[in-house]
Amino acid sequence: MNANELRSKYIDFFVSKGHVRIEGKSLLPENDPTVLFTTAGMHPLVPYLLGEPHPAGKRLVDYQKCIRTGDIDAVGDPSHLTFFEMLGNWSLGDYFKDGAIEMSFEFLTSPQWLGIPVEKIGVTVFAGEAGIPRDEEAAAAWRRMGIPEERIRYLGREDNWWGPAGTTGPCGPDSEMFIDMGHEPCGSDCGPGCPCGKWLEVWNDVFMQYNKNAQGEYLPLERTCVDTGMGIERTVTIMNGKKSVYDTEIFAPIIAAVEKASGYVYGTDAGKDRSVRIICDHVRSATFILGDPKAVSPSNVGAGYVLRRLVRRAVRHSRKLGMEGLLSPIARSVVEKFAGPYPELVENSPFIMEEFDREGEKFLETLQKGEHEFQKLLPSLKKDPRGIMSGRLAFKLYDTYGFPIEITEELAAEQALKVNREEFDEAFKKHQDLSRAGGSQIFKGGLGDQGEMAVKYHTATHLLHKALKMVLGDHVAQRGSNITAERMRFDFSHGGPMKDEELRRVEAIVNEQIRRDLPVTMEVMSLEAAKESGAIALFGEKYESQVKVYTMGDFSREVCGGPHVEHTGVLGAFTIQKEQSSSAGIRRIRAVLT
Ligand code: ALA
Repeated sequence: MNANELRSKYIDFFVSKGHVRIEGKSLLPENDPTVLFTTAGMHPLVPYLLGEPHPAGKRLVDYQKCIRTGDIDAVGDPSHLTFFEMLGNWSLGDYFKDGAIEMSFEFLTSPQWLGIPVEKIGVTVFAGEAGIPRDEEAAAAWRRMGIPEERIRYLGREDNWWGPAGTTGPCGPDSEMFIDMGHEPCGSDCGPGCPCGKWLEVWNDVFMQYNKNAQGEYLPLERTCVDTGMGIERTVTIMNGKKSVYDTEIFAPIIAAVEKASGYVYGTDAGKDRSVRIICDHVRSATFILGDPKAVSPSNVGAGYVLRRLVRRAVRHSRKLGMEGLLSPIARSVVEKFAGPYPELVENSPFIMEEFDREGEKFLETLQKGEHEFQKLLPSLKKDPRGIMSGRLAFKLYDTYGFPIEITEELAAEQALKVNREEFDEAFKKHQDLSRAGGSQIFKGGLGDQGEMAVKYHTATHLLHKALKMVLGDHVAQRGSNITAERMRFDFSHGGPMKDEELRRVEAIVNEQIRRDLPVTMEVMSLEAAKESGAIALFGEKYESQVKVYTMGDFSREVCGGPHVEHTGVLGAFTIQKEQSSSAGIRRIRAVLT
């Protein structure tokens, strides 16, 4: 079974069960600045899972392009991907556990659909915890389908719960479906959900059953929903008895394009195979980002920065394979392979190729200069008895030549040297501003520190805003803010200089809220509902019809795109350093967190 067949079977099956096929959405999310990319099929449907009626009805089915970059450094092994496609069906207040499980079972086992033998199927259901019972309903539904007790496993929150972490919103237990790959069990408690490789997950049915409120309580939802997700790459791998997703037809033409461009034959050298997989994955992701109707170009901020990193890392590995040319021929193989289900790739193909080549050329120049400089440094680097390359030097390569730290690290590793990353990060932090906060959230490590600081300052602006209103009066309104990793600036409307005593009170109020360690929670609602609920919305700001509202305990409530910390306690000590005029009627506060 190939991916095209799987896609059509899934859609046909759910359409035959009364679902309406909806279009998958853009990879660049509409209303959610806290994430850079669409990360799951349910992502574009969040407002509808929260109660908004969907124009297509209560039963929906689609396939959705997704990007998850949290594991980007693991790409290169046989299983990790940054781009994947997710099949999903949804019930918005229609069928619930029984219906979802019956349909999942029929699609998996019926000879008309996937035809997987029942004996090979195992499932996990939520084991329960304080306040939330074990999911007997789901387990009973599986038993009715003929799954015996020994292939139903009860697992906790880490495995069988889907929903907001640290925020409010719909969530609930899920039930995952696994295929037995036929190996011996790894031990006496090996079963579905065991990571040993015997049981591979193909599908996840999420039962959105609770609404987590600001107090952290789980209240039963009035309208329960089902959200399911089946990864296409993974399912095709399993259905064809392959060990790796890179061994499926999905990647075959892309690998062939890399072989053709490099002359290297896949499967003959483990190290080079890793580079081939990195190139295939990264070029596929980048092609989809560039081919999206809401495409971004490579840049140093947000999604554009992720794109730049994907292209540059692919270029770097193409050189390891001895590839001299640019990556557009590989991108072309991606466009051809996915033209059917994603016609936007064909439409945007000239733009995709142009951007690949432009970014590739720019980066090759950078690489040449950087590698040359690195070679010049090498004799003195080799003299370090501990094999450590100073972070300041690595930063200089970055700062002067735009040479990425990841590549300095890779080059250093090839010479058995290790870059002092702490020192690099410190230098880097000084040089950064808020604009990369989004990107750094997605890429753990490296940029992480800087991002975290910026997020903290962002949360502090909400506390400051509210404290100013309390001390000076309700006329105070935010007129702008500017955040770096070192400090925040906050502009607000107020007639004249603040008194010392007022400044100290504002400072004390903010520190008091930090000390109280207020939980920070987020809800999506209509702008009207947000204003009615007492949330501060900025005057003159253009908002979408659905907005996010961030609440900090009982203290502050603001319409805001985020991101924010989860608890105010992590902010540290808040100190106002300066209060001055910014322009007529506008004051400016400069403050730091230490
Ligand atoms: N939203 C669920 C997942 O991504 C189905 O696993």
